[in-house]
Amino acid sequence: MDQDATMDRENGGAATPLHPVESGRDSGHNVVRLSGVTKSFRMGEGQVEVLKGIDLMIAAGEYISIMGPSGSGKSTLFNMIGALDKPTSGRVFIDEVDVAQLDAYELAWLRCRKIGYIFQTFNLIQVMTAIENVTLPMIFAGMSRDEYTDKGMQLLQLVGLGERARHKPSELSGGQQQRVAIARALANDPAIILADEPTGNLDLSTGEEIIDLLKQLSIERGGTVISATHDFKMINVSDRVVWIRDGRIDRIEDREKLNISVGKIS
Ligand SMILES: Nc1ncnc2c1ncn2[C@@H]1O[C@H](COP(=O)(O)OP(=O)(O)OP(=O)(O)O)[C@@H](O)[C@H]1O
Ligand SMILES: [Mg+2]
Repeated sequence: MDQDATMDRENGGAATPLHPVESGRDSGHNVVRLSGVTKSFRMGEGQVEVLKGIDLMIAAGEYISIMGPSGSGKSTLFNMIGALDKPTSGRVFIDEVDVAQLDAYELAWLRCRKIGYIFQTFNLIQVMTAIENVTLPMIFAGMSRDEYTDKGMQLLQLVGLGERARHKPSELSGGQQQRVAIARALANDPAIILADEPTGNLDLSTGEEIIDLLKQLSIERGGTVISATHDFKMINVSDRVVWIRDGRIDRIEDREKLNISVGKIS
C-alpha cells in the first residue's frame, strides 16, 4: 500500500467525498472516461510517446478486455485508468470526476475504495498470510478488527480459499496466489476491478479458472472489470474488446461480433 493510502488511514479512513468537477455530457453513466490521453516518457535526450491520444468510455458493469501486442501501451493505459500514473496530456475521469483535480487524500480514497487492482505477478506481501494480505486494504480503510477479520474470511471463501487463510504466498500455487490477490482487490467493494494480465503467469486451465472467477464476480457484484491481457480466452467473457496498437485504439469490438475459437481469432 502506498504512502497516500497510509495518509487515508491517518485520516481515520473517513469516506472522503469526491466532488465531480465536470459533469459528463453523456446521459449514460460512464464509470471511466478517457479524453485525449497521451503519455510520454523521457528516454535520455529524447521522448518516447507511448499513448498517442486515447478516447475511451466504459459504462458501469461492463467487462472490458484491453488487448494488443507487447509494448503497445496496455500497462501504461492501465496505470492511467487506475490513477497510478498521470497522463502527459488529456484527462481521466472516474465516475465523472477528473482524477487530476483530486488532492492526496481524495486520490488515496479513490485507490483504496473505488478501484481494486490485480497484477500479473500477484504482488502479495510475502511475509503475510493470505488473510493478512486480504485484510490489509480494509485496515487502511479504517475498518474494525472484527469486521475486517469476518470479511477477509468471507472473501477467501468466495475465491475458494477458506482453508488456506493462514498460508503465506510461498505456500500457495500461482492460481491460489492470484485468488488471494482477487480477494484483496475486492476488500473494499470497489466499483472497478483493474487487472493487468491476471492470467499471464498461470497455466491454461488455472488461467481459465481465474477468468471464470472474475466474470462470475462481475455478474454477482455488478462491478466493472477492465483487464489488460494477451489471453484470447478472456475475450469469451468480455462485453467489449479494446484493441490497442502502437499507443492508439485500433478498434473496439463487441463480443458478439468476434468470431472466436480458443487461441485464435478469425
Ligand atoms: N517508465 C517508462 N519509461 C520509458 N518507457 C516506458 C516506461 N513504461 C513503459 N515504457 C515503454 O512504453 C511502451 C509500452 O509499454 P507497456 O508496458 O504499456 O506495454 P504493454 O502493452 O503493457 O506490453 P506487455 O504486453 O509486454 O505487457 C514500451 O515500449 C515501453 O518500453
Ligand atoms: Mg503490460
